[in-house]
This record gives sequence, C-alpha cells and structure tokens, in this order.
Amino acid sequence: MRYDFSTHSDRENSRAEKYTLREELFGTEDVLPAWVADMNINTPEFVLDAVKKRLEHPIIGYETMPQSAFEAQIEWMKREHGISYELEDLLYSHSVVASMDLAIDAFSEIGDKVIVQTPIYPPFLASLREQKREVLKNPLKQGSDGRYLFDIEDLRAKIDDKTKLLLLCSPHNPVGRVWRREELEEILELCLEHNIVVFSDEIHSDLVYAPNRHIPFVTLSQKARDITITAIGVGKTFNMAGFAMSSVAIANKALRERFLQSYRRVHIGHGSVLSQVAFEAAYREGREWLEELKVHLFGNYELLEEVCKKHNNIIKPVPIEATYLAWVDCRGLGLNNRAIKDFFIQDAKLGLNNGLSFSKEGSGFMRLNFGVSRDEMQEIVRRIDRALSEFKDE
Ligand SMILES: Cc1ncc(COP(=O)(O)O)c(C=O)c1O
Repeated sequence: MRYDFSTHSDRENSRAEKYTLREELFGTEDVLPAWVADMNINTPEFVLDAVKKRLEHPIIGYETMPQSAFEAQIEWMKREHGISYELEDLLYSHSVVASMDLAIDAFSEIGDKVIVQTPIYPPFLASLREQKREVLKNPLKQGSDGRYLFDIEDLRAKIDDKTKLLLLCSPHNPVGRVWRREELEEILELCLEHNIVVFSDEIHSDLVYAPNRHIPFVTLSQKARDITITAIGVGKTFNMAGFAMSSVAIANKALRERFLQSYRRVHIGHGSVLSQVAFEAAYREGREWLEELKVHLFGNYELLEEVCKKHNNIIKPVPIEATYLAWVDCRGLGLNNRAIKDFFIQDAKLGLNNGLSFSKEGSGFMRLNFGVSRDEMQEIVRRIDRALSEFKDE
C-alpha cells in the first residue's frame, strides 16, 4: 500500500461540524463522533498540493471554471463508469443538495408529487417540504438477508398524474445499496410510462466495493439519458466536502435548458478558485488513492461486522455495497428509539445518526460513519464491544 490510513490529523479543535455540534446533538462533548458524512482521513496530498500551488499567485479574483477540470471529470467517468459526456452537458454546482433543490424547482410545481425512497438522506425530504411538493413515499423493503430492495408494486400503485419527479439515491444513503441494472430498469420503465423526470444523486458512486458495480442511471438506455439529471461530487470520494464542489450532468438539451432557468436565477456561477483546482487534481490523480482507500474502508466495515458477530448480532449492519456509512439494525436490543440513542451516547460514548432522522422507516436503526483511520475504527469497535458486554450483563 502506498498510502497510509492508519492515523489521521486531529480535528478535535478544528471547526469540523462533527465536533462543534456534539454538545447540541448529543448533550455532551464526551462522545466520539461517527455521524456527519465526511471522513476522519486526511484529504489527499495531491489535492492539497494543487491548492497550495494556486495560492502562489496572489490574486484570487473572479475566474471561469477551467475547461480542463471538466475534461478531467469526463475522462474519469468514461474510464470508471462507462459514461460519455460532452463538456456542454456538465455544470458546476457547489452542492449536490443545491442541485437537487434546483431540479425540484425546475421540474415540478407546488402541490406536485415527487417520489422518495425511504429511509433516505434527510435533505431529500427537507427540500420537498420547503418547496411545498407532496412527498410520494415509496419505502424500500428488506429482503431476507437484510439487504434493501425497491418496492416496485407499491410505486406502481401510488404514481398518478400529479407525479412529476423521482429523487433517486444511487448508491443509496443510508442503506448502502448499489442498485443492479434490472432493479433500475424497473424504475426507468415506470418513469417513462408516466413522463417522470429522474434526479439521480450519484455522489457515492465512486465509493463502491467490489464485486458491486455502480450503474449510472443514464447508461440504462438513450431514453434514460433523455429524462435524467445526474449529480456527481468529489467531496465524499476524496474527503474534500469543505471545498463545496460538485457537478450536474444533463445530456438532454431541452431538460438542461429548463434546469438552467432555475440555475441562472440563483447565480451559482463558477464556484471557488481553490475548489476548481482541487476538483481537477482529484480526478486526474486520485485513482490509486481511491483504490487503496476502498480496501481500507472495507477493512473498517469488517471490524464492525466482527464485533457485532461476537455479540451474536444483537446489533448488526445491513450488508454494505457502497459508502462509508453503515446502517446498523439495533432492533435486537429490544429498546425504543430514545433508549437506543442513549445506549450509544451514554454506554458506548459514540455519536451516531438516529435512524428516525432518515424518516420513520429508519426506526430501530442507527447510522455509523466508518470513514475513519484504522486507529479510530479500533477505538469505535472497542467502545461498542464494551457497551454490548455491559448491556448483556445487566
Ligand atoms: C446522498 C447524498 N447526497 C448529497 C450529499 C451532500 O452533498 P453536498 O454536500 O454536495 O450537498 C450527501 C452527504 O452526505 C449525501 O449522502
């Protein structure tokens, strides 16, 4: 291994949200935070070096997004995911959530129904609430191995003329699924039948564990390409969320024009000068780092699985296919949601996301961020081990 993920720089006294919001969220500073989705892993040197180099020029003025940055992204997406994009298909966006907000604005109206598959990353629901769209909830269902599946029959029964948009999360946060081609094709068929536009949030698409393979929604067919807006980000993959940099890909010109009407209004522009160079460096130089990172992350996940097995899976993560976010089934504890939360804060001294924040279908679950250095993962596992041992003794 060329890169070392065994330790990371201390963030305790930085402005990292994970730490600054501890008291507010968990009522104590005495928790090891394993919640917000950034990693306790150093942002790669090649990204930081590119930024330092840019700072050698002492003027940070208005600058256009360099074409070479999008070219680097196009090469990456072709090589890693078999997608072909043209430069004109891609737009800068500082945030995937902002892109989703704009898509909701552009492709639906107040009172329209928008499909969301729960449990889900909370801003999906918040964005719809704020824009007064009706949420068409299509809960995921669990298979016998714990893996989550689309419920196509439920969706078919609920879609009607007011349904205008589907917010797809692929790979899915929090359930860690990488949707198979056949599953996505069933969704596509329904969307085509009912003229539904698809906003595909693919921010986690580079964090997929072999043998799973991410299938970009647009690669299903030309028809899929024609109805899809895809959001892609480097922030998760290379642990650089603080650069606030992502992109939106829209191959269909008519759809892009509609999106641009909302996009231009909010003056998103070209983003930050430093983010632009960070984005390009990540796509140009990040492949080997990412391959090693994924091996490291999966090793962390296995440590979590091991400690759960040691305690007869009284809590257990659903099988993970992508992301560094484990969706942990805590129903075996026999506690209500409040008590599950307290168990992690007071007994394990860990700050996790409550399952309920991903909608009511998250009841009985917690989300644990294992995107950490090995040292920190070992500490997380030690705390879980201790807390579960004490829980059984009581
Ligand atoms: C599925 C998903 N979409 C979007 C985001 C946030 O992206 P951004 O910071 O670019 O808005 C996250 C962050 O956790 C996420 O998990």
